[in-house]
Amino acid sequence: MAILEEVLKLFGQSKKEDLCYKDFWKRIGSDAGTAMSMMDGSPSEEACRLTGQYMAKKISNALLLNREDVVLELGCGIGRIGREIAPSCKKWHGADISETLIRIAGKRMEHLKHPEFTALNRTSLQGFPDHFFDKAYSHAVFIHMDKEDLFLYLKELARVLKPGGLLYFDTWNLKNEVGWERWMMEVENWSQSDQKGRKHVSRNQFATPDEITLYVEKSGFAELFSLSGSFWIQEIAMKPDDREASNRKEELIRSLEQRMDRIAIDSTLVDLFGHHLKMLKGQIAPAEFHRTLWNLEENESVLLYRQWLDILWEKNKGSWGPAPGH
Ligand SMILES: C[S@@+](CC[C@H](N)C(=O)[O-])C[C@H]1O[C@@H](n2cnc3c(N)ncnc32)[C@H](O)[C@@H]1O
Repeated sequence: MAILEEVLKLFGQSKKEDLCYKDFWKRIGSDAGTAMSMMDGSPSEEACRLTGQYMAKKISNALLLNREDVVLELGCGIGRIGREIAPSCKKWHGADISETLIRIAGKRMEHLKHPEFTALNRTSLQGFPDHFFDKAYSHAVFIHMDKEDLFLYLKELARVLKPGGLLYFDTWNLKNEVGWERWMMEVENWSQSDQKGRKHVSRNQFATPDEITLYVEKSGFAELFSLSGSFWIQEIAMKPDDREASNRKEELIRSLEQRMDRIAIDSTLVDLFGHHLKMLKGQIAPAEFHRTLWNLEENESVLLYRQWLDILWEKNKGSWGPAPGH
């Protein structure tokens, strides 16, 4: 997909103004198309909604979301996921470092009841009281931060969650083969860039499951699950509840176990993302990716990728030619 190539170039430039998270992400939000593709590579509003719904379902299950929940999304961007989650909870707050992305999120979510937005200024949730949220989540955000910032945010999340509150977040997984492939793209990109400057502050960063478990536990959370079977490490943690810590933890683990298949990224999506990376590297043609997709048995991940590739093909038909029939 052309879009990820553009994204890699953006992170490879290492301009002086890119040494600050806010300046970089504000610049991204100054153009709606760039903003959309920088959320998860979505080439259009339609694709953004599809991928937003897919991820929102996983996160809602991971958080055992219900209508009484007051929820925080850290790094809400243009509200790709928030737009889908906000209708299912009592109150949704989106926080992000970028005012321009928040502005787009506000427009995309203006049909919803009272979403609230906060522009952050540093690695802190300053302004939110202690023990305020029932649930919090952050998708595809810590991958763009230094580890010190990831840890500082985890400590802040532990502060603002109520005892017994739940947290979901994810990061790139170095231990997964496709996760490793994705990391190698960064390595190759860096090896070819002008190395006189610092590395880009918002470049993609990767971790191993053990490393993430350590940050989670040292920041004051009790880890419930660390799902590491995909290119994401999907982490579900609880803010300990002093009174009934062990009971609550066991209850949550039992409830989560029952919905694990609706939370974990499945092996089909992992394979498809692997194909996607090969297409980006020019190792397979879009038509081959298309053939693979339409030969697979249909499931949620296959459907998502089929719809996504159709949208992308429409955008690229000038260079890719007409889309193959299904
Ligand atoms: C790849 S986007 C993902 C956005 C959204 N979570 C989604 O999945 O659509 C990364 C987001 O993290 C935000 N972000 C990056 N650095 C941040 C920081 N230091 N503090 C808070 N948000 C940050 C960016 O502004 C951007 O909205």
